[in-house]
Amino acid sequence: MGIEFPHRHLLEIGPLSEEDILVVLRTALNLKEILRRPIPKVPTLRGKVVANLFFEPSTRTRLSFERAAKVLSAEVLNFSARGSSLEKGENLLDTVKNLQAMGPDLFVIRHPASGAPHFVAQHLELPVINAGDGFHEHPTQALLDLLTVWEKKGDLRGLKVAIIGDIRHSRVAHSDILAFRKMGAEVYVSGPGTLLPSEKEALGARVCVRLEEAVEGADVVIALRVQKERHGRMLFPGFHEYARFFGLNRRVLSRAAEGAILMHPGPINWGVELSPELEDFPGQVILDQVENGVAVRMALLLLLLKSRESSL
Ligand code: NCD
Repeated sequence: MGIEFPHRHLLEIGPLSEEDILVVLRTALNLKEILRRPIPKVPTLRGKVVANLFFEPSTRTRLSFERAAKVLSAEVLNFSARGSSLEKGENLLDTVKNLQAMGPDLFVIRHPASGAPHFVAQHLELPVINAGDGFHEHPTQALLDLLTVWEKKGDLRGLKVAIIGDIRHSRVAHSDILAFRKMGAEVYVSGPGTLLPSEKEALGARVCVRLEEAVEGADVVIALRVQKERHGRMLFPGFHEYARFFGLNRRVLSRAAEGAILMHPGPINWGVELSPELEDFPGQVILDQVENGVAVRMALLLLLLKSRESSL
């Protein structure tokens, strides 16, 4: 196990081949069964230590890495910026070097600066998983999104995927566009003009000014949260207008393909990007995404820690 995943880190989607992605998805699907057992624990990563370094808020990502590590019997060191010596001015490199001295085997890093996990990967010896860096990428979210669609639709090739919202500032959108395209899906994006990338910056996605054009016939619709903390200034008139023109509701989704699925990475602003009536939309799979997040992170911990072991 592990030899088939030829990467030391998971920093972004770009370096992964289609086959590498399939290895992650197949491994995650196999491991997911463990989560359903009466005693969901296996000894596979006993003795390993995963350091979870969160320099930005997180609920799902941080807890699912912790859960993933514990199901595989690894130990977890949890670091969060609040309450740490960062508040006394300690810099990123000193912080991670000190944590490295405590003997972890892998770092999971979320940071508000794009490129921070890459910087740590260059300067330290340990494998690094990017758990979201600024507005750059969030590769583990893209992998759990692929797994969710793969499970529901059977195949990814030829699907129409619509991503709606703050495409420009969303690391989830960036990783999702790259990942779904790599797997042969067509990606359309839409949102308020100030939150849309230009055609050239859209990473190969089709940019639609009209929401309906993106949603028409879509097999998968992914809504995003407006990343207001990354704007610096207001880029659209207000949440009310956002909801009116780009919020998803049953009427908009009736344009999607039959059996379309609705996804959201969380946290959701109900009444802004999603109308509350979508909570019981039949194709809504938002909590499946959360469960798949644990399975995908188990797969990645296993693949990165075991492949490292076999290369020692
Ligand atoms: C996302 C993030 O932090 O990038 N959340 C997540 O990890 N599930 C999306 C967001 O904050 O909007």
